[in-house]
Amino acid sequence: MCGIVGYIGDKNAYEIVINGLRRLEYRGYDSSGIALYNSELNVCKTKGKVEKLVKKAKKNISLEANIGIGHTRWATHGEPNNVNAHPLISNNGSLVIVHNGIIENYATIKNELIDKGYNFKSETDTEVLVNLIEYVQETENVKLGKAVQLALSQVVGAYAIAVFDKKKPDEIVVARLGSPLAIGIGESEMFIGSDVTPFLDFTRKVIYLDEGQVGVLRNHKETKFYEISNDSIISPNIETLELELSEIEKGGFDHFMLKEIHEQPKAIIDTLRGRLKLNKGIIKLSGIDNNLNKFTSANKITIIGCGTSWHAGLVGEYIFEKISRIPVEVEYASEFRYRDPIINPNDIVIAISQSGETADTLAAMKLAKEKGAFVFGICNVVGSSITRESNSGTYTHAGPEIGVASTKAFTTQITVLYLMALKIGKAKGIISNNVFNKYLAELNLIPEKIEKSLSFNNKIEEIADQIKDSTNCLYLGRGFNFPVALEGALKLKEISYIHAEGYPAAEMKHGPIALIDENMPTVVIATAKGHYEKVVSNIREIQSRKGKIIAIITEGDKDVKEIADYYIEIPETIESLTPLLTTIPLQLLSYHIAVKLGKNVDQPRNLAKSVTVE
Ligand code: F6R
Repeated sequence: MCGIVGYIGDKNAYEIVINGLRRLEYRGYDSSGIALYNSELNVCKTKGKVEKLVKKAKKNISLEANIGIGHTRWATHGEPNNVNAHPLISNNGSLVIVHNGIIENYATIKNELIDKGYNFKSETDTEVLVNLIEYVQETENVKLGKAVQLALSQVVGAYAIAVFDKKKPDEIVVARLGSPLAIGIGESEMFIGSDVTPFLDFTRKVIYLDEGQVGVLRNHKETKFYEISNDSIISPNIETLELELSEIEKGGFDHFMLKEIHEQPKAIIDTLRGRLKLNKGIIKLSGIDNNLNKFTSANKITIIGCGTSWHAGLVGEYIFEKISRIPVEVEYASEFRYRDPIINPNDIVIAISQSGETADTLAAMKLAKEKGAFVFGICNVVGSSITRESNSGTYTHAGPEIGVASTKAFTTQITVLYLMALKIGKAKGIISNNVFNKYLAELNLIPEKIEKSLSFNNKIEEIADQIKDSTNCLYLGRGFNFPVALEGALKLKEISYIHAEGYPAAEMKHGPIALIDENMPTVVIATAKGHYEKVVSNIREIQSRKGKIIAIITEGDKDVKEIADYYIEIPETIESLTPLLTTIPLQLLSYHIAVKLGKNVDQPRNLAKSVTVE
């Protein structure tokens, strides 16, 4: 995920582009950059955040310009550094581009361009695109808009781009497919943004460029829009913005947490993209590919993490043991670092962290490395400390998570653990091709099944209304869904401040059952193939003590539906994949309870997004 900004008009382009980048920084902040034209092309870029760019730009380039584009990057191709930062310039030094998205066939195009004499400075797919546009422009002898259109018709992938030519600095060409792009229309000026926040201060008139469209934006002259595929001219809708800035930053959701809950289908698609190759029946995960022997010969895996990431690790324990038959221990990083853990040769330590900055996890990794373990990181934030400390690793690609309560990070961490376990299980010959392919097919369907689970939002809100005044709540699950019960309880605790406990369902009779009465609701995960009959017995035990039951059940369930006070259905899938679905209603339930209680959902008291102290 990246943010792009652009401006052409009579105002100072630098100020508008920089302020726009500040507002889009939630989209990624691995690097940032700006290109301005005023008798010469001035490009300034830097690894890191927009404020760093501001300092560098002030020292190094002229800030006077009426045309400019800018970018804040969440790295996909190439490590985040100054070279890979956008904007990127074409070989003849004339075209400059910013891009949000992924060009999937960039390697093929790059090789073709290399054969034609092009050279590349960065590792990015974007530099390939800008050179393809230049090549088309020169060989076809066409204007920039046409060159962009022809070049994009050769491209497979997702993009929102803004590009201009220093030889003709009176227009910016934009295009989109799969990534958002909004155009603000002012008096003799045009604004560009990945969302509307960069130009909300200047205009309320907006065009949301449609999929597969190109726009040639000019300040004083006619602006043109047409379809990439067939050249036909279009007249896009001009909409009037009525939203406030703060609302738009949350994408129209009331809270970042709700937005992030709803982003999970996309986050998982992004996590699977380029890795789960259904038609080839393979999983590509370079961190594992490059170390496959280590994993297939591992004696033991220790997973470390904190909070929600620790819960993802617990799901990982069940997955790895089932699919790849490797013994797994899951440790709180904060405990691991102060024990004297036994690490043997051939042991692997997997560190899980959304932020990549959690101090306990970082310290535990360092200890594991000192003891000779191979440390593998699963992380969401590109270039963070934990990614640097890992021997190898993989990103979750959930996109920035702003709400303090972790949601999409959890489900994408579990997704990565599935990919790892499946790849290793297949390489070890533990699972057959048939089973492997069945998992791939089901995993591929998870985003749409999450979408379906999200559609019960209103029903969950009604249930929240019924239980919001409870002071305690119990969460029960078994097998793969025991960690989900823990995570459900954590979500409720941290944002609603209601005391909640997660337990393996069968443990209830060893103590927690003493708490059950008519004032204590119990959330029970009762999936069809998850020790169903035994969980049904637990439900009956709770009900005979007047406890209220909120059941998470599989579509088609009859028994629990009849006896539970409230139920929420999830679509059917392989039992070991159910945590990706059962988690969704629990997130929504906590969210709605907290909102109804008037709590600060995105910034709960005493918590911080990235815990960099012990
Ligand atoms: C809970 C939550 C925290 C984090 C924990 C670890 O919703 O957000 O429990 O999961 O602080 O953080 P990371 O994953 O960044 O290491």
